[in-house]
Amino acid sequence: MGMLIVCQDLWKIYRLGDVEVQALRGVSLEIARGELVAIMGASGSGKSTFMNIIGCLDSPTRGSYWLDGLEVARASQDELAEVRNRKIGFVFQNFNLIPRTSALENAQLPLFYRGLSLREQRARAAAALARVGLAGREHHYPAQLSGGQQQRVAIARALVSEPAILLADEPTGNLDTESSRDIMEILDRLNREDGITIILVTHEAAIAAYASRQLLVKDGQIVSDRATPVPAGSR
Ligand SMILES: Nc1ncnc2c1ncn2[C@@H]1O[C@H](COP(=O)(O)OP(=O)(O)O)[C@@H](O)[C@H]1O
Ligand SMILES: [Mg+2]
Repeated sequence: MGMLIVCQDLWKIYRLGDVEVQALRGVSLEIARGELVAIMGASGSGKSTFMNIIGCLDSPTRGSYWLDGLEVARASQDELAEVRNRKIGFVFQNFNLIPRTSALENAQLPLFYRGLSLREQRARAAAALARVGLAGREHHYPAQLSGGQQQRVAIARALVSEPAILLADEPTGNLDTESSRDIMEILDRLNREDGITIILVTHEAAIAAYASRQLLVKDGQIVSDRATPVPAGSR
């Protein structure tokens, strides 16, 4: 079985008029199934640019990217849509929930677009909410939930598609310490129990400590890549 993610010499260059920004400058790396990877680095170092390429939301200026054996640049529109909708789940700093829409309906949304019956949408969304500790909160609106609970709804929404990979760009960036720990415990459990490969961006060492591998990005390059074996139960 090949690597889940293979990047070879990825460059991303943004041109704004006469100004050229080299957001990624030759990133090469491989990520295996089942890893929990933390990406750290200063603001503007290229972390989100890299995540967007990994998530097939953006394409590199140069270089190659293979996702589960598929060379993304050569994939058809249908193949890409399939990858984005089924293989990858996204979690963002700002939760990106739909306001005045219940937790259950927010979590159902990816399944609605897939054309599942309403009954099945609800059952799967309710199961995903229960998986993140929100059983009983199905009918709350985002405004009636704490930040940590809103982020858990966003994780449930990502989980209903049973993705192989979860991409989380600063998932705890807007949360207090305790909610951040709850979110990381959920991600850690999804990684260990369900085998979901997780790649997350964070500024905080305490959050990165949950990962089995830490990457440090500086000026568009990976300057450090180290394994961080954490014995179970030691956190
Ligand atoms: N759409 C864009 N157009 C122009 N420049 C961009 C764009 N997105 C990001 N950049 C620039 O690319 C660099 C890396 O940005 P980003 O990947 O968002 O960094 P990070 O997530 O590490 O803060 C920054 O200099 C940023 O200003
Ligand atoms: Mg960013």
